[in-house]
Amino acid sequence: MSESGLKKIGVIGIGTMGNGIAQVSAQSGFSTVVMDVDASFLAKGLDSINRSLDRLVKAFEKSGGEKGIDADTKDQAFARLSTTTRTEDLLDCDLIIEAVPEKPELKEKINRGLAELGYDKILVSNTSGISITRLGAAYGKPEKFMGMHFMNPVPMQQGVEIIRGLATSEKTYETVVALCHDLGKIEIAAEDKAGFAINRMFVPFVNEAIRVIEEGIASVDDVDKCTYCLGHKMGPLMTADYVGLDTMLFICEVLEEELGSFYKPSPLLKRLVESGQLGAKTGSGFYTWEQYKASGINPDIARYRIG
Ligand SMILES: NC(=O)c1ccc[n+]([C@@H]2O[C@H](COP(=O)([O-])OP(=O)(O)OC[C@H]3O[C@@H](n4cnc5c(N)ncnc54)[C@H](O)[C@@H]3O)[C@@H](O)[C@H]2O)c1
Repeated sequence: MSESGLKKIGVIGIGTMGNGIAQVSAQSGFSTVVMDVDASFLAKGLDSINRSLDRLVKAFEKSGGEKGIDADTKDQAFARLSTTTRTEDLLDCDLIIEAVPEKPELKEKINRGLAELGYDKILVSNTSGISITRLGAAYGKPEKFMGMHFMNPVPMQQGVEIIRGLATSEKTYETVVALCHDLGKIEIAAEDKAGFAINRMFVPFVNEAIRVIEEGIASVDDVDKCTYCLGHKMGPLMTADYVGLDTMLFICEVLEEELGSFYKPSPLLKRLVESGQLGAKTGSGFYTWEQYKASGINPDIARYRIG
């Protein structure tokens, strides 16, 4: 029996975050149904999950059983996963985790759609920066809505920021805390204010790192190297590329709107997003990327300077 008492979890969106969330949910014993708009996205997402589970099996074999999972555990986890392109197939889930792109209107539409179809259990959003209270209002049952902000890559990162909207009930909060434990995660409680806790700290850090490049103070490479001196495992620019520069820009704008001009996005961040260079997922950002591995510094950045 799980601590949360939940049995079936729905995941909406099988992109970067959704496929990690679905993997962890299935590995933790939940029957897991993942919904996306196109069967080809579902096939690609399932393939990512399969490869990720295979890496765990290899780790198990290499470490003599100390790390990872054995092949039977992998098969059982994979068998708990199902996919669909129909929202109706999520209605018997005990809790749904939404992980579609960071677009407020899209997330609101999904929340309204679920309510219209009669879904009335807990709904959480993996949003990085949209107001939880706003998304809860679109669901129409704000007491059963909250934020569950997983970190990338989900199977590796233990922390999950959990955010209550203004009207989230204690029961919903307690169930989500218990779900974090069921998933082997550590909950980090934050309030529903722009950027919550993590991005309130991290996004201005990235923004300032970009300004250091714009002003010619240090190169991309050296900016990231600076943070190793602080004990960080990955620099702000590489992390921003991983997360997605569109998401970074969006959160900067949310912070600026709610908290003031100090949080204004740097011009270079805007230019990169305008050019469609969104980081690892598009093959270039501050770095060039092959199969989610950085292969060099983006040459377009090397000559970008503003005073
Ligand atoms: N990428 C990160 O590092 C990161 C970290 C923490 C939180 N987040 C947040 O997680 C959410 C998802 O981000 P992502 O990076 O996984 O995005 P992504 O673009 O990689 O994946 C989004 C998925 O949603 C699907 N989708 C789009 N519209 C849909 C719809 N109407 N119904 C069902 N599926 C739909 C897309 O087809 C895609 O597969 C965002 O809110 C983002 O801010 C991202």
